[in-house]
Amino acid sequence: MVYGYKFIKGTEDEKTRRITDLYRSNDFEDGGICIMILTVAHTKGGVGKSTLAWNIANCFINDGQKVKIIDLDFQQTIFFINDIRYASGLDKKEVIQCETAAELISTFETYNNDEILIVDVGGFDNDINRTAISWSDQIIVPISNSLTEVLGFKTFEAILEEIGNPFVNVVLNNIHPLTKDFDVITRAIGESENISLLNSIIRNRKIYKETLGVGKSIFDTKNEVAKAEIKGLCDELRSNW
Ligand SMILES: Nc1ncnc2c1ncn2[C@@H]1O[C@H](COP(=O)(O)OP(=O)(O)O)[C@@H](O)[C@H]1O
Ligand SMILES: [Mg+2]
Repeated sequence: MVYGYKFIKGTEDEKTRRITDLYRSNDFEDGGICIMILTVAHTKGGVGKSTLAWNIANCFINDGQKVKIIDLDFQQTIFFINDIRYASGLDKKEVIQCETAAELISTFETYNNDEILIVDVGGFDNDINRTAISWSDQIIVPISNSLTEVLGFKTFEAILEEIGNPFVNVVLNNIHPLTKDFDVITRAIGESENISLLNSIIRNRKIYKETLGVGKSIFDTKNEVAKAEIKGLCDELRSNW
């Protein structure tokens, strides 16, 4: 099945034949910033997709980067967070909703090349989510460190393999502050050729939940530890661009 791939699976130049490379080569010559589509994805709900998408987006915005958040979840988590934000007198972020894969592709195709698009997908497998995954420059899959999480990840991994985008990173999220042993997860990911585990670890912190509920990100708070954690993740993502 074809989802309007930017990344094209199954051809000999599998890892290089990407539409944006054309744009990119120009951008690099100008010393400009290249377009980045970053998707936070998992077919499992409750793993922290919206939490990470929102905070990563706010981290980049905080750094002066232009960011558009694309909310593909029918629960409209980020869309509503942003509404709460605006209603409480804070600045509204740019949040876009797309209802069809075609709409999403046209959003991808009409980006400005100094923008980062951050996509928050819903926790299920459908055409629009697959389209986001196939078009992404980077896919981040949040998982926790437990056996059930590993099993859930295996289901999603099969889908990722079908789509074939090789730029998949797992990030450990919602990890108990004292946990240091990630054997279960590193072993599970070690078996996957196309998937790597990021060094950054996002710990379980109540600030993530507290801020989301009132339309804020951790960058609206003075929680330096959480900010450093998300910044570290963003720097690591940036280093892969
Ligand atoms: N690192 C974290 N620390 C504490 N709570 C978290 C963390 N990540 C996610 N959560 C909480 O877990 C719940 C599910 O997160 P959410 O981002 O909505 O998941 P998803 O979008 O994958 O369904 C939310 O209540 C959120 O606040
Ligand atoms: Mg969500």
